[in-house]
Amino acid sequence: MSKIISASILSADFANLGEQIRDVRKAGADWLHIDVMDGCFVPNISLGVPVIASIRKSSDIVFDVHLMILDPQRYIQYFCNAGADYLTVHAEATPELEATLLEIKEYGVKTGVSLNPGTPFEPLKKFLHHIDLLLFMGVEPGFGGQKFKPDILPKIRQARAAIDSYGTKTLIQVDGGVNADTVEDIAKAGCDVFVAGSYIFENKHGMEYAVNTLREKSKS
Ligand code: DX5
Ligand code: ZN
Repeated sequence: MSKIISASILSADFANLGEQIRDVRKAGADWLHIDVMDGCFVPNISLGVPVIASIRKSSDIVFDVHLMILDPQRYIQYFCNAGADYLTVHAEATPELEATLLEIKEYGVKTGVSLNPGTPFEPLKKFLHHIDLLLFMGVEPGFGGQKFKPDILPKIRQARAAIDSYGTKTLIQVDGGVNADTVEDIAKAGCDVFVAGSYIFENKHGMEYAVNTLREKSKS
């Protein structure tokens, strides 16, 4: 299966967001990764429902919405109605994971579950049939531009093996610290969807070079 590159707008120039989204799409990005932060689950605040609804009107790229918020079930309907194609919640942020995933499905939106670097994968096995996208954080969530933690690689391999043996269509995504130096190891571990923010939006050779490099190096 060909790999998917999801560009994280956290590193975009928010003063020119519409233009940046058009440019990154033209550069070849497959999906747009949209980081929502509440200042509680993570020590940062980014953007929310009105911004997503607004950019939805001018872009048909896949919206890969990553909720870094506490008790995300309170907001599922709003993010689904704003135009999320994938809606990812953190396993650490809710005691109601299964109910939250079922609610996302009711809106016809693809479900995602994210795990911080220190959170084990094992307890998620029983929910795999409900999960379209399994996101492994390569850094502590909250900020772009951090260094990838290679000790998450065994966890990705473990998830790859479980997904392949259960036969679910769950995609594995890695977010945080993805760049030209780390993408090959991440691909070899079994990743399908690569999120990159600073590497794409702040690349001195331009976004097209960045997306092409990730695409080439992720072919495993
Ligand atoms: C961090 C966010 C990431 C962030 C990645 O908490 O979830 O999506 O934008 O940034 P880079 O690619 O710069 O590590
Ligand atoms: Zn993210």
